[in-house]
Amino acid sequence: MQFSSRTRWNVERTRYADTLHALRTDGAPYFDLTASNPTTCGFHYDSIGILRELSRPECLEYSPDPQGIPQARAAVTLYYEEVAGAQLLPERVFLTTSTSEAYSYLFRLHCNPGEEVLIAQPSYPLFEFLADLDDVRVIPYPLFYDHGWHIDLAALETRITRQTRAVVLVHPNNPTGHYTSGQEREALEQICLRHGLALIVDEVFLEYRQDAPVPAVQTCSFASGEHPVLTYVLSGLSKAAGLPQMKVAWLAIFGPDPLLQETTSRLEIIADTFLSLNAPVQHALPFLLGQRGGVQQQILARVGSNLDALDRLLAHAPLLSRLGVQGGWYVVLRVPSLTGGEELAARLMQEQRVVVHPGYFYGFHGDGWLVISLLPPTEEFLEGARRLVRFFE
Ligand SMILES: Cc1ncc(COP(=O)(O)O)c(C=O)c1O
Repeated sequence: MQFSSRTRWNVERTRYADTLHALRTDGAPYFDLTASNPTTCGFHYDSIGILRELSRPECLEYSPDPQGIPQARAAVTLYYEEVAGAQLLPERVFLTTSTSEAYSYLFRLHCNPGEEVLIAQPSYPLFEFLADLDDVRVIPYPLFYDHGWHIDLAALETRITRQTRAVVLVHPNNPTGHYTSGQEREALEQICLRHGLALIVDEVFLEYRQDAPVPAVQTCSFASGEHPVLTYVLSGLSKAAGLPQMKVAWLAIFGPDPLLQETTSRLEIIADTFLSLNAPVQHALPFLLGQRGGVQQQILARVGSNLDALDRLLAHAPLLSRLGVQGGWYVVLRVPSLTGGEELAARLMQEQRVVVHPGYFYGFHGDGWLVISLLPPTEEFLEGARRLVRFFE
């Protein structure tokens, strides 16, 4: 059988996957500190309202629009008015089934096979696969931690070549939980301007800010302010409304006027080729997005209380510490580097029945980094964290 070289992945089951499978299927309880699916973490949703919106009579009509139906895009423009005070035209919004699809549209729009996009390290691990599938090369640029996370801007600029087409930024980043600062944004825009690059900003966790009052959130979206370079802002229901099962995301285009029309026209053809969103969810989008506040409050409360519980445990665990978190759903732990990351995660599953992610999944260098989710139900999180601490004792 002839397969494409872009799918030449190592598909053998890893020790991590094997151990996790055994843990999940042996029938005994386990403590999943990687759980990040909000629909299974015990949050309350307005189920009646959601199902009502998905069964409106209009949902039975097929009236395809490559960018998404106008009412749904209007809901996205309202979202940016609320979170960023931004006046975005519905013509600059494209609905997609996921941010992954939005990335894929953008990689196809900007990159020929073999061309490059710059991606932060550590960051969201799916980029490698997305890029592989679109024949794009991922070039990492380093983040460093010094009383909080920062972009190594000088290193980033040295990674730019004639093949580079875009800089990708996750804001706040997963799993480091840090927001790009105003100065970093300015510097990045200048770099993109100098080298003719687009800026792709993934803001799925934007509203999950832990360390600042809500008004501060409203000024830090890349949708706000001036846009000297072509800037795409990506988000979606999976995080913004805790509804990953709805499969709705979007990209919003900002930038200098002459570029906007050309960009929109080209993207329209890409989107028209797939027409991937279903009608019910588009009709429901104004409601789904409008009710996000209730879910966000519950998630923020959970993340905050789990982080407090973790800190109380870490206060008595001199060998373990955590890095600062500004927002998002994750926390990075510094643990003794006893053994390789995969071995360590496997032993935690076997000896303590606790699931964690080794840092290398996200591109952390070296051992001694673990990433855990702050979303699990409180009791499960607490018991998992206790066992984690006990393991290192
Ligand atoms: C940074 C980031 N972007 C996007 C996503 C997924 O979004 P979607 O479900 O819309 O593809 C995730 C999921 O964890 C994420 O961490």
